[in-house]
Amino acid sequence: MLKLSFDSLVSGRPLKVNLDGHDVCVARVGEEVFAVGDLCSHADVSLSEGEIEGHFVECWLHGSKFDLRTGEPESFPATTAIPVYTTSRDGDTVTISLPENRK
Ligand code: FES
Repeated sequence: MLKLSFDSLVSGRPLKVNLDGHDVCVARVGEEVFAVGDLCSHADVSLSEGEIEGHFVECWLHGSKFDLRTGEPESFPATTAIPVYTTSRDGDTVTISLPENRK
């Protein structure tokens, strides 16, 4: 489990964190926070170096967009989903944790 300050997250600017040995891309979208695996499923590229567009993170290398809510790629060349992590928010505290099936 990892705790972050909501106010430290900039909407539309992804942040790479490490959660129990997993590299995770955290993205604030307005008042919501999402957390997905940081590694693009197409090649060994950090998604937190890409762009956030709406509820999607775009890989900077070949442009695949992944849905931050489901991890599913919306566009080629990636065809495999990336992991989605559990997020919750209580005031300024954002908690990110591994989903039950990955603990
Ligand atoms: S490395 Fe991400 S789309 Fe190719």
